Amino acid sequence: MSPTEHSIRIEPHGRTLQVREDQPVLEAALSAGLNLPHSCKSGHCSSCRARLIAGEIRYPGPRPAGLSAEEERSGQILLCQARARSDLIVEARLIAAVADVEIKTLPCRIAGLTPLAPDVMQVLLRLPSVERLRFHAGQYLDVLLPGGKRRSFSIASPPHDSELIELHVRRVSGGGFTERLFGAASGSEAPLGVGSLLRIEGPIGQFTYRDGHRPALLIAGGTGFAPLKSILRHVLETGVERDIHFYWGARQEQDVYEQARVLEWVQRHPRLCFTAVLSEATAAEAAHHRVGFVHEAVLADHPDLREFEVYAAGPPAMIEAVRAGFPRHGLPAGRLYFDSFDYAPDVAMPPKVSA
Ligand SMILES: Cc1cc2nc3c(=O)[nH]c(=O)nc-3n(C[C@H](O)[C@H](O)[C@H](O)COP(=O)(O)OP(=O)(O)OC[C@H]3O[C@@H](n4cnc5c(N)ncnc54)[C@H](O)[C@@H]3O)c2cc1C
Ligand code: FES
Repeated sequence: MSPTEHSIRIEPHGRTLQVREDQPVLEAALSAGLNLPHSCKSGHCSSCRARLIAGEIRYPGPRPAGLSAEEERSGQILLCQARARSDLIVEARLIAAVADVEIKTLPCRIAGLTPLAPDVMQVLLRLPSVERLRFHAGQYLDVLLPGGKRRSFSIASPPHDSELIELHVRRVSGGGFTERLFGAASGSEAPLGVGSLLRIEGPIGQFTYRDGHRPALLIAGGTGFAPLKSILRHVLETGVERDIHFYWGARQEQDVYEQARVLEWVQRHPRLCFTAVLSEATAAEAAHHRVGFVHEAVLADHPDLREFEVYAAGPPAMIEAVRAGFPRHGLPAGRLYFDSFDYAPDVAMPPKVSA
């Protein structure tokens, strides 16, 4: 064994793997094909929380934001940030639901770029003709950039219609990747257009639709609509029967960028309801829209969440509000699924081995 490597045993499964001292434990586990819970990979969302049974870890900086001092004292660690300083024994949950999809690294070309809102671009990706990306509704992919950088985007197309992979990309001011989709160069990198070649890795994540008959609340913040569009199309187009109330929180009406399409779905599917909630509505918009924060609108309409299943995707602040508030309204922790659109600081990542 190389001196800078340690062995990790994941309990209760007893699986072991090797990790380099400078490598996040989560990354090593995913590369080894262990599907551990995670979402933001930046230490914010707490999805990758696990218990350190033996051994010593360190974080590259201070205690990550997604871990309280009390949790740290009780032996909890965040696997996406933790680096091993010795051999470790860690107790973590393995996710079986997405074990049946293969994580692939693939080249693809941009086949379409269509503005959906002033700062949101629909990006269509075409894979080589012999390749297909199998995924579950709700999952995301990483765009791989030079220098080991990667950027995560949810897949908006449903699994049954994946000839072109649809993404909804919000322009981040000064963003090294997203600005290039809006015609700007970034450093030495040229703008991206139709025909540009990208490399992607996916599908990733446990934010996936689960079959069931309970009423489902789908809650999107901004481009959090993307994975929920995949879920909605999957449910509506494959004939799944269940009540769904879809809430879309955005700043203004223009940010509810596919409202017309959603309203069309509502007309055709009597078991689907839709509510847009605007947080920065103009006076004219406020006259005919719900205003406020989307999670508050959900709780005002559904103060008792005991019977529901909740799928939430979008900015970290919205996800935090849902995670903190909804259990107090009776939602069992096991029925809250979420994807936090956090962003990870750039770290050079070695190429992953397919799971
Ligand atoms: C699981 C997951 C799924 C995601 N899905 C989507 C999606 O479907 N659509 C989508 O638009 N985004 C999504 N995101 C967020 C997206 O990955 C980032 O916005 C993107 O990586 C920004 O890349 P960039 O190179 O343009 O910006 P960078 O060059 O990485 O960042 C430029 C600056 O902006 C800040 N920044 C970066 N991203 C954000 C952000 N989202 N909000 C606020 N500040 C930011 C950085 O800290 C930095 O200061 C997702 C994130 C995760 C973790
Ligand atoms: S805190 Fe580790 S994946 Fe979000």
